[in-house]
Amino acid sequence: MEKSIAELEAQFQARIDRGESIEPKDWMPEKYRKTHIRQISQHANSEIVGMLPEANWITRAPTLRRKTALLAKVQDEAGHGLYLYSATETLGISRDEMYEKLHSGKAKYSSIFNYPTLTWADMGAVGWLVDGAAIINQVPLTRTSFGPYARAMVRVCKEESFHQRQGYEIMLTLCKGTEVQKAMAQDALNRWWWPSLMMFGPPDAESTHTAQSMIWKLKRKTNDELRQLFVDITKPQADILGLTIPDPDLKWNEETGHYDFGEIDWSEFWQVVKGHGPMNKQRLAARNKAWDDGEWVRDAALAYADKQEAMKEEKQELKKVG
Ligand code: 3HC
Repeated sequence: MEKSIAELEAQFQARIDRGESIEPKDWMPEKYRKTHIRQISQHANSEIVGMLPEANWITRAPTLRRKTALLAKVQDEAGHGLYLYSATETLGISRDEMYEKLHSGKAKYSSIFNYPTLTWADMGAVGWLVDGAAIINQVPLTRTSFGPYARAMVRVCKEESFHQRQGYEIMLTLCKGTEVQKAMAQDALNRWWWPSLMMFGPPDAESTHTAQSMIWKLKRKTNDELRQLFVDITKPQADILGLTIPDPDLKWNEETGHYDFGEIDWSEFWQVVKGHGPMNKQRLAARNKAWDDGEWVRDAALAYADKQEAMKEEKQELKKVG
């Protein structure tokens, strides 16, 4: 006898509660599928758009070593985007549809990539803080309930660790350099600190998806828990650099065993998410230009694939004729 949707959903949740991995061909509630398409495609968008702030400095890196590290990092981000688009496709959405949603501004990507990278020190701050935040947000995702997402995250997190370390090393070099170089590092920290805290999403109390995502083990920790972990880990790193985190309310709380920190300006966050950040227009224009400029490459690849297919069919016909 056919099971009711309620019975199927109960069985599905029991699988999640047992810590089982959900695979693309398994039965899943439509809402589970939809929220994974939403989150993983937006994650992929973030990786691809996230290449732009750093690409700005590849041609201006101060040494060949810095240039090769930055090139490798930006190339990694492209790969992360492709793994994640592939994971999302297993849920029944096409790559072209995801690209169309990104290029038309309908789909989101991380707010953090709508800030400008003004000096070389920003390459340090982005690696240290943004990739540092990404690691904290993404390590729990290696245990997320949807198999393809969890497996993609294992590889992504390994590469993010290199990204964070190369960024921190840039900051360390600047902080050990001249006064001007240390001031550049402090200026970059001042500009990237608060947007990095916003990366973790709105407060749990205002989060649309966190409660359900925790039940489905899509999220293993909440936005606020991960944000707190980031602050606790990053403050001592800033102390080693000799830099001051731009938050007068940041102080250790003996009772809780965490750092208390100041109010985040959520109006700035929602302004950026709604497309009114410092670089939103430029990021979307750059993505659309790259898509248009790459049309001939896609056409050539498709023409080659069609020719290969035609030759294969011809060979099979010849074999039949004998
Ligand atoms: N930027 C843009 N939109 C954001 C956001 C952010 N930083 N944080 C939240 N939002 C959006 C959500 O997408 C949601 O809108 P939607 O319903 O239209 O999708 C709304 O704000 C409500 O937020 P929620 O907290 O309810 O949303 P989520 O449960 O999806 O949580 C998240 C947001 C924590 C970013 C979660 O989606 C997540 O963990 N995603 C996977 C990791 C990821 O995407 N990281 C982004 C950075 S990737 C990166 O840093 C690459 C590295 O190489 C540098």
